Amino acid sequence: MRLFGTMRADEKGQLEIGGCKASDLAKDYGTPLYVMDEEHIRENCRRFKQGFTKEGLSSEVIYASKAFLTLAMCTLVEQEGLSLDVVSGGELYTAMAAGFPLDRIYFHGNNKTAEELTMALNNGVGRIIVDNRYEVERLEKLCKELDKKINILLRVNPGIEAHTHEYIQTAKHDSKFGESIYDENLCEIIGVCQSSTHITLKGFHCHIGSQIFEEKSFLSAVEVMVEFLAKMKVDCSFITEELNLGGGFGVYYAAEDIPIHIESCLGKMLKTVEIEVKAAKIQMPKIMIEPGRAIVANAGCTLYTIGGIKDTYGGKRYIFVDGGMTDNPRTALYDAKYEAAVASKILDQAKNQVTIAGKCCESGDIIIRDIFLPDMECGDILCVSNTGAYNYTMASNYNRIPRPAVLFVRNGKAKVVVKRETYKDLIGNDFIY
Ligand code: LLP
Repeated sequence: MRLFGTMRADEKGQLEIGGCKASDLAKDYGTPLYVMDEEHIRENCRRFKQGFTKEGLSSEVIYASKAFLTLAMCTLVEQEGLSLDVVSGGELYTAMAAGFPLDRIYFHGNNKTAEELTMALNNGVGRIIVDNRYEVERLEKLCKELDKKINILLRVNPGIEAHTHEYIQTAKHDSKFGESIYDENLCEIIGVCQSSTHITLKGFHCHIGSQIFEEKSFLSAVEVMVEFLAKMKVDCSFITEELNLGGGFGVYYAAEDIPIHIESCLGKMLKTVEIEVKAAKIQMPKIMIEPGRAIVANAGCTLYTIGGIKDTYGGKRYIFVDGGMTDNPRTALYDAKYEAAVASKILDQAKNQVTIAGKCCESGDIIIRDIFLPDMECGDILCVSNTGAYNYTMASNYNRIPRPAVLFVRNGKAKVVVKRETYKDLIGNDFIY
């Protein structure tokens, strides 16, 4: 298992995260347990902020909260000076409850409800990213009713094929997100915004997909988008003030992944923006990006207790853990790959091929297929690494399994930032019939 951030093995082969022994965390807080390396998240925020800064350019890094969101995470993001991308009333509510500055909130979504839009307008979010022409009209009407003004970006689809899993690809021509940059009626939508008394169109947003490993995909997005801005200037007399290029920076999960080098990619993106904007003879817009996964994925891990070891007649050895697809649905959903280690045997030789399975009543409830691990026994703590993104936020209560607690660890101290759900929580919204 590759060790990230403050993860260490001590001389006895015991795993430490944020200066805390993993087996102590498991003992003190129970398993399954999400452990977030706070220092590592902060470092990632700083890498993005510094990497996406260039003299003479106005830029902004917006954290995509769908990757991992809790009240504590909002506070951390605020402290590190990033803005926040929310995509639902629930995410917005969380940010508001944490006291996140509303003018630094970007509200996305392809089908925001009237309640969500009202909530965003009444509380004064910074930008609404409008998905389509229908939403422009709805928003205009709502703004009039509520007597509110709003700055928006229009989500457009540059039609770039990024090499990533089909389900997390967002910018193919048939994607449900945004209006195509090739749509002939774009000037009409822009015209509606330009003549609006309540909506101010500041520019455009695009997002080409997630877990992208090729710098060239991001650079093509820049080229295509700047060309598009120039076209909008000529065709629709629209001057773009802001260009949001979305997220998607690929991270390491397992040996096959060669992650994006953040500083290099961001530097090249900004350079390309400068070159292309100059060539297109348009005004330099403010440039934004929206990383989610790259801020948190490698900073999180999940601790499980091994409850059973089974050798099947078919020859497969299963290691059963006390969580599963309820706390990490990504293997079942995307065939995602993960690494793991036994928390007290980090230095032992990984000589047995095993499959890590969860406790759900479903054959697809697998966390890792065919991984090599050392000898193990029931009661050992297993650490699955790189679970910081899209695990906690995608967790479910399938089989009425309570969601794990979330810890922030740093400098030898652990803080519970989300408490473990209880059986009582599970029936909290039920009524007796
Ligand atoms: N901005 C927009 C508009 C997005 O749709 C997304 C992700 C992001 C930013 C952040 O992308 P990131 O930097 O995290 O790649 N559940 C899937 C990922 C879905 C991503 C959806 N949109 C997974 O577990 O891999």
